[in-house]
Amino acid sequence: MSDLPKSLVLVGAGKMGGAMLEGWLALGLDARGVAVFDPYASPGIETLCAARGARLNPPRETVAPPEVLALAIKPQGLDAAAPEIAGFVGPKTLVVSIMAGKTVANIRARLPAKAVVRAMPNTPAAVGRGVTGAFPDAGVSPRQRAMADALLRAIGGVEWVADEALIDAVTAVSGSGPAYVFYMVECMAAAGVAAGLPDDIALRLARATVEGSGELLHRDAGTPAGQLRVNVTSPGGTTAAALGVLMAKDGLAPLMERAVAAAKRRAGELSG
Ligand SMILES: NC(=O)c1ccc[n+]([C@@H]2O[C@H](COP(=O)([O-])OP(=O)(O)OC[C@H]3O[C@@H](n4cnc5c(N)ncnc54)[C@H](OP(=O)(O)O)[C@@H]3O)[C@@H](O)[C@H]2O)c1
Repeated sequence: MSDLPKSLVLVGAGKMGGAMLEGWLALGLDARGVAVFDPYASPGIETLCAARGARLNPPRETVAPPEVLALAIKPQGLDAAAPEIAGFVGPKTLVVSIMAGKTVANIRARLPAKAVVRAMPNTPAAVGRGVTGAFPDAGVSPRQRAMADALLRAIGGVEWVADEALIDAVTAVSGSGPAYVFYMVECMAAAGVAAGLPDDIALRLARATVEGSGELLHRDAGTPAGQLRVNVTSPGGTTAAALGVLMAKDGLAPLMERAVAAAKRRAGELSG
């Protein structure tokens, strides 16, 4: 893919960084231009780097500033890592950060970066089905934005936002969202038990229902979720009876709005 950078340094190859690296190499990123830094890289990352020819923890002085420096360490590790990685930031280096809560200003305060993309992926990235909200600061060129887009698409979809403050809302919807869906499975299973089902059967039914519905959403991407819902709701039927409760004035919509607002507020508090 032509939008992929020719050189890239990845700092932090844990769950998210590792998933991204795997996705990039599968997409055709030239491993000869890749250097990965992680002091405790997993055996999986060691094997991947060795098999594809990417450099893992090479001497820093042998690494020239790349086109893209991807930061996938924990946010609390940035202060310690910054002096070690500042040398990787050249005048043309795009910094792509997925560190939760670290603003463009935080990154610029610690690294001599001229162009920063701040991105917030989510955990389904581990299976290539994540979705990332991304913000390009004013220094990001169209070519750099295309590179970031190509890199982030390796782990799923990408939505660009024009205002950095919206990253908190992205965090509240899609960043934290997988947990909401997992909790819905728990609630559906508990409701199934209350309706008389054995625990294990209720759990399997709830889980498979969410898995299958997610897959339908995925395969039928052109159909709005509301239409998919209508398609399976016969007037006066059982689904309509349940939706009457879920869609009541005090039903799921206001509850979800409060939950997302709480997550957004917390994301703002944790930024810095
Ligand atoms: N997981 C998610 O769902 C998710 C979603 C959105 C955003 N994020 C963000 O993604 C980032 C990474 O999260 P994660 O879940 O992938 O964390 P993780 O699995 O802990 O990965 C971070 C990796 O970076 C390594 N590391 C720490 N300091 C380093 C340094 N100075 N140089 C090189 N490597 C270093 C860590 O090594 P050690 O283990 O030795 O410290 C670890 O292997 C975080 O900032 C998080 O906020 C994660």
